[in-house]
Amino acid sequence: MISQTTIDNVFETARVEEVIGDFVVLKKSGSNFKGLSPFSDERSPSFMVSPAKQLWKDFSSGKGGSVISFLMEHEHFSYPEAIKYLANKYGIEIEETERSDEEKEQATQKENLFIVSDYAKDYFNSTLLNIEEGKAIGLTYFKERGFTLETIQKFSLGYSLDKWGAFTDTAIKKGYQLEFLEKTGLTIVKGEKQFDRFKGRVIFPILSMSGRTLGFGGRILTNDKKAAKYLNSPESDIYHKSDVLYGIYQAKQAIAKEDNCYLVEGYTDVLQFNQTGIINVVSSSGTALTPNQIRLISRLTNNITVLYDGDEAGLRASIRGIDLILEQGVNVKICAFPEGEDPDSFAKNNTLDSLKLYLDENSTDFINFKAALLVSQTKNDPIKRAETVREILVSISKIPDDIKKEVYIQECARIMNIDESILYNTLAQILKKDKKDLQKSQQKKSTPFDVVSSEKQPVEKVDEQFELEKKIIELLLVYGVVEEEFEELTLEINEKGEITHTSEIVKSKVFEKIYLDLQEDETEFANEDFKVLYNHIIDDFNKNQDFKIDRLISKLSQQKAELITHILFDSEKDELHDWEGRKIYVTGKEETIAKYVSDTILNLRRYLIELKIIELSKSPSIEGSIDKQIMQNIFDYQNLQNLIAKRLNRVL
Ligand code: CTP
Ligand code: MN
Repeated sequence: MISQTTIDNVFETARVEEVIGDFVVLKKSGSNFKGLSPFSDERSPSFMVSPAKQLWKDFSSGKGGSVISFLMEHEHFSYPEAIKYLANKYGIEIEETERSDEEKEQATQKENLFIVSDYAKDYFNSTLLNIEEGKAIGLTYFKERGFTLETIQKFSLGYSLDKWGAFTDTAIKKGYQLEFLEKTGLTIVKGEKQFDRFKGRVIFPILSMSGRTLGFGGRILTNDKKAAKYLNSPESDIYHKSDVLYGIYQAKQAIAKEDNCYLVEGYTDVLQFNQTGIINVVSSSGTALTPNQIRLISRLTNNITVLYDGDEAGLRASIRGIDLILEQGVNVKICAFPEGEDPDSFAKNNTLDSLKLYLDENSTDFINFKAALLVSQTKNDPIKRAETVREILVSISKIPDDIKKEVYIQECARIMNIDESILYNTLAQILKKDKKDLQKSQQKKSTPFDVVSSEKQPVEKVDEQFELEKKIIELLLVYGVVEEEFEELTLEINEKGEITHTSEIVKSKVFEKIYLDLQEDETEFANEDFKVLYNHIIDDFNKNQDFKIDRLISKLSQQKAELITHILFDSEKDELHDWEGRKIYVTGKEETIAKYVSDTILNLRRYLIELKIIELSKSPSIEGSIDKQIMQNIFDYQNLQNLIAKRLNRVL
């Protein structure tokens, strides 16, 4: 683990505007920066960066957060990857915390496999480009298939010499240990002898989402019927074939930006698409699509278009994938290529425009796709027709979202010309059966990835209490550690039973004032999200001398972090309308922080007292008249309310 000191150091040093500036053209606008959203295609800027708050907000997609969350969104880094990226950018040394010997052992073990794999990637690539045999055989092969040098370099393609120990011997001479060469599968060890697994093959390195080399695919160049056309790295500590997608590293940004991912079968399909100009494409590389692969994509988009070769095998493979994709809550379209063509050949023989046109015109929703199958395969056979309807319903049953299910039922009824109610009944049967099956297998779905969706903001009723609680969070975030002079009231009840008060001026930090006042009243936030945020914030203030919004955000869930960003940027949204710099200055809130804070707390108190009075007046009356004690309470509360009202109206 990266040490807390390093993390703190990174947060202290990193400037959100500098880091984002590497990816987005930012223009100063008042105290903020603005730019075009990197998450959507737009012409007028709705992306905002606040150096003062060290936060960013994208009004077009609703995303926002700290410098870390930007890197996680934009570069699709994990949290530690983002920290490491920043440490590297700012020249901060990464300190690792003490790990158990076992953890250390495992981390070094994996790290060694990564190092060996990275070396192999460079070795194969350099062999392809610089060694005679590599150029004559490997490079010639790639050129014949129509790949440019640019594509070759973008995917670090390579060549493994046609000698049994060429790679292994070189690697060992360079100091790489046989143990790790064997564990990555690059070298096959048989007794005293060692062989290069990929001997005489062209190499396709398989990279992780963040660009580390996990494994390799190697294609044979001869027509040897006995040898496999493609050979892949065996499973290892770093390579799990069901968790990787070929091309994801090169495609991730385009997938997020286009909000769609094309899924193809082979390495060369990915390469040819890239070369033609369609970048948002990945391949499951010959394995049947897995849930983890789909989840990898769903970190980037909720839409997958499955492309398949125009043959029977391709068709069957894509049908299998559909339900799996739907099950993950991802939308799926299918696009078939003409008989005898695969994405590779089609992209190779067409321009970008005609490829795009073909994809647009031939991508169909899964219902239409299955329905079309019916028409072509079953003609007027009623039994087959019923089977197809059932098959479509099975697909629909996999969709987790009920509204979507309903829409698809309607669509299916329309296309197949069947009564909706019949479809609903059948769907119910299928779901019931699924539930039973599930109970039987007792499978629990794991969700290794926190799927982040900006649409999942809680929809709250806009009421006074909500607004006041939100305001208090905002005050804590913006002014929490500011020290101010507050007028403190001490309430007393005199002999006549009236509430009076004495006041004194007390110096305290805004967060202390808020915390103590709310605690005194035993005020609890009504809104669950605000309650959690409030506790986190107060906790942070109490533990740390200073206050860092990104430190706080780093401890929160994505949803809470976004909520914070929303709160903080709410007031600034209007600024987006004067992009050209006409800045309207609002009277600085800072002038009267103390008053602002006190008033907000008082307003919340007033509101809560009002609730209390209403509640009390509703208490069951005894013999027609309200209980005397209750009357007294209401009276006291009303007094209190008057007092508060007076204070609220006083000198503005
Ligand atoms: N594949 C594999 N092992 C094999 C055959 C195929 O791993 N023995 C995987 C490869 O990832 C390959 C994909 O399945 O890219 C699709 O197979 P295929 O269509 O046969 O290969 P193409 O990608 O079309 O390869 P090429 O055009 O080079 O023949
Ligand atoms: Mn092919």
